[in-house]
Amino acid sequence: MVETDTKGLVLAALEQHRGQSISGEELASALGLSRNAVWKAIRDLREAGYRISAMPRRGYCLEPENDLLSVQGIRPFLSPAASFCADRIHVFPSLVSTNRTAKEMALADAEHGTVVLSELQTGGRGRYDRAFFSPAGGLYMSLVLRPEYLPFSGSTLVTTFVGLAVCEAIEEVTGKHPGIKWVNDLLLDGKKICGILTEAVTDFESGRLSWIVAGIGINIHSAPEDFPPELQNTAASVDPEREIPGIRNRLSAAILNRILGAEPFPEQSDLLERYRKRLIMLGRNVLVSRAGESWPAVALDLDPEGRLILQRENGDLLSLSSGEISISI
Ligand code: BTN
Repeated sequence: MVETDTKGLVLAALEQHRGQSISGEELASALGLSRNAVWKAIRDLREAGYRISAMPRRGYCLEPENDLLSVQGIRPFLSPAASFCADRIHVFPSLVSTNRTAKEMALADAEHGTVVLSELQTGGRGRYDRAFFSPAGGLYMSLVLRPEYLPFSGSTLVTTFVGLAVCEAIEEVTGKHPGIKWVNDLLLDGKKICGILTEAVTDFESGRLSWIVAGIGINIHSAPEDFPPELQNTAASVDPEREIPGIRNRLSAAILNRILGAEPFPEQSDLLERYRKRLIMLGRNVLVSRAGESWPAVALDLDPEGRLILQRENGDLLSLSSGEISISI
């Protein structure tokens, strides 16, 4: 993407040298700007919340711990195969819900790889329309996916693919190893760090998926006491100690690299095998809630379409698709 605004140009250059100093003169000549225009852009960026230090004779330095989301902050971490989406990333300071905005964009013909990010959500939603805790500092991302660019036809497999991609991206950036509670809750040490809500519209006549919005919410910095009381025993964050500089931009790129820039896409069997290895519930007793009823079962395996195979107490086997049930372990 060609940066057209001065602030964006200066931010992109500072992001490329994050943690290093670059003089106003170098910035001005590299970007074809006046020194005064660079100075004004630095002032505006500081006002927007960026920590930029200035040292005599050395110049400006974007401090490594800056963690505001921006296209300029994400782009350096995008793989060549995913870089096409840099032009399609929209970052907002606040939204009701990134899924809601992404669905509006999908209905208005947004392209595959359109990405909606928000610093916070005022009405983030999860499965069953439950509220999703979305304070400033988490990562709230929704992606518009067009099925013709994905090798998986069924919505359960798309959900599986997205869940695994986010899990592996978190591992790449944090070194931590999340598990998956079917269908797409990601957990660290038994506590939920991420929820994923995949919504799709199917063409009525062909029965094929028209578009998919994959909404990903990750708790990044919240400390245990920051969560509302009802979540304090069950929720956790990926970097509560704030040890990973610029984690949100890096994690956003790592997720986009795996979903939009997968080269090649995993084979269905490989996808399911990698997902299965992360499932925390296989062989365990679970409580299944469906249509107002709850019943105990044992989670046995995944079927080739990513459905969960359960055995009821009377020995009956059944496969469940995502969206049908809620499971507690
Ligand atoms: C769940 O835990 O049930 C799924 C939670 C999904 C939350 C994400 S945050 C980004 C996107 N916007 C939303 O309103 N929901 C999803």
